[in-house]
Amino acid sequence: MSELNNTVLKILGNGKGILAADESTATMTKRLESVDVPSTPENRLLFRETLFSSSSMKDCIGGVILYDETIKQTSSKKNTIPKLISDTGSLPGIKVDTGAKILAGSPDEKITEGLDGLRERLKEYYKLGAKFTKWRGVYNITKNYPSKLSIHSNAHALARYSALVQECNMVPIVEPEVLMDGDHSAKECSEKTSEVIKRCFEELIIHKVDLKGIILKPNMILAGDKSKEKITNEEVAKLTLECLKSSVPSEVPGIAFLSGGQSEIESTENLNLISKHNNTGFIMSYSYGRALQQGALKFWSKDIKDIEGTQQIFNHRAKMNTLAAQGKWSKDLEI
Ligand code: G3H
Repeated sequence: MSELNNTVLKILGNGKGILAADESTATMTKRLESVDVPSTPENRLLFRETLFSSSSMKDCIGGVILYDETIKQTSSKKNTIPKLISDTGSLPGIKVDTGAKILAGSPDEKITEGLDGLRERLKEYYKLGAKFTKWRGVYNITKNYPSKLSIHSNAHALARYSALVQECNMVPIVEPEVLMDGDHSAKECSEKTSEVIKRCFEELIIHKVDLKGIILKPNMILAGDKSKEKITNEEVAKLTLECLKSSVPSEVPGIAFLSGGQSEIESTENLNLISKHNNTGFIMSYSYGRALQQGALKFWSKDIKDIEGTQQIFNHRAKMNTLAAQGKWSKDLEI
């Protein structure tokens, strides 16, 4: 087994998933301000350190995606943050894209940037302890989008990023996110997601990326948030499995879904059904940001010194998702 494949299995094995704590400072500021906590480097660190020192890190969280600010911070016990994470048995990772910018030639769409100087930045992150990385491409569904241009250019960037990451002995998370914003049907979401993912793999293969050493982070197949169509969780699972089975090469070891604005329970319930009916051969798990942190953040904001109470909320959510990744979750386990 290659070292990169081994890293993937360490992150996603035994129902473990990924905590996506890689919000940029601007996004984290929005999250903190929404619960009336000032967004200072100390507060951002305090919330994140509270999660990273939770007991569920050991059995549930196989990897944590960090942001540049956090990977360079030091914990209250004077450990580096990557060391705090690896001491729990989890692996530190890092978001390396520099964000989605207006796409020249199709100004309503976005292209993710960050390739310039990436090789040097990767070396630095590797030295700081990172074992894996993340890059997110983002696509909107409307009548005319995503355009061929956006599908092609984001796939190309994801592939160039992945090749550089593997060259530096880290596992790239390949995240092509088809947003749920809009009034599109689940069928349209499935068709567009499939087209986007297939194009990504064509580019990954051209760039000689070892598919056994990547994690795919896709969206689930959902109807748009403004669509009148209401589909059941069973249908979400069925469509998601069909889409991934037909568009992801079998060498890929693991798929970790983003939550993409679904509620905490909804994203757990959908993951549970996906795992229960998983006939794809891929490990299916989670790489959630909001769906792992929302409840904990809300609780913490009432008393930022209540570490234990915040950790209890986070531990519960992590446990529920790890059960869901094994198809063992049920609603009556929720508190
Ligand atoms: O890039 C997106 C994040 O890593 C996942 O965040 O689960 O809140 O969509 P989310």
